[in-house]
Amino acid sequence: MNTLQYPHIVKSLPYPIVSYEPIIDKLTLSIHHNKIYVNYVKKLNLLIKENKELEKYSIEELIYNPYLIPPTILNTVLYCAGGIYNHELFFNNLSPTKNTQISGPFKKKILEKYHSVEAYKNVIHEIASSPINYNWIITAIDNKNNIQTIGLKDNDTSISLNLYPLLVIDIAEHSYFIKYHNHKDHYVSNILTILNYEVINERLRKL
Ligand SMILES: [Fe+2]
Repeated sequence: MNTLQYPHIVKSLPYPIVSYEPIIDKLTLSIHHNKIYVNYVKKLNLLIKENKELEKYSIEELIYNPYLIPPTILNTVLYCAGGIYNHELFFNNLSPTKNTQISGPFKKKILEKYHSVEAYKNVIHEIASSPINYNWIITAIDNKNNIQTIGLKDNDTSISLNLYPLLVIDIAEHSYFIKYHNHKDHYVSNILTILNYEVINERLRKL
């Protein structure tokens, strides 16, 4: 998660780019991280360079406090900041290990809400197959300690809805199309086998 102020820096992938093969191919991840995510960081820095009053704010502060942002650049700043925030969460909750199993306090919260891991996965697949063109699936926790799993469009973030993100899956077309073509559901099924539950449980512990 990017908590630093301007200039915002590009965060490396936590593991070598080929670590996620064959679930995520090197070409897709290279474009996804090195072009799409990096461009959000570059664009945001450029906007802040031209609007120095925003230099002192972190990514989260920009998202939480949109009234701080001049109206003429509001949508672009929020789109870039949300893109940075969500992508860092997504890249960091991917594991180089295959067939990871949901575990720990996160599993406990999931079972409280959905009663079975399969039921939870079905909720994720329902969002992925929705006719609404969601870019993100996020399992988050609200201020009453309840789990919610939601789809978000564009680069909207759960924190702007007062939901703290635990598990983030990018389902934008750029995250799967090269390898999976229109088979988004196959991509989602595969992503569910390489989620890093140590990272996800750590997010829950830090609340
Ligand atoms: Fe993405």
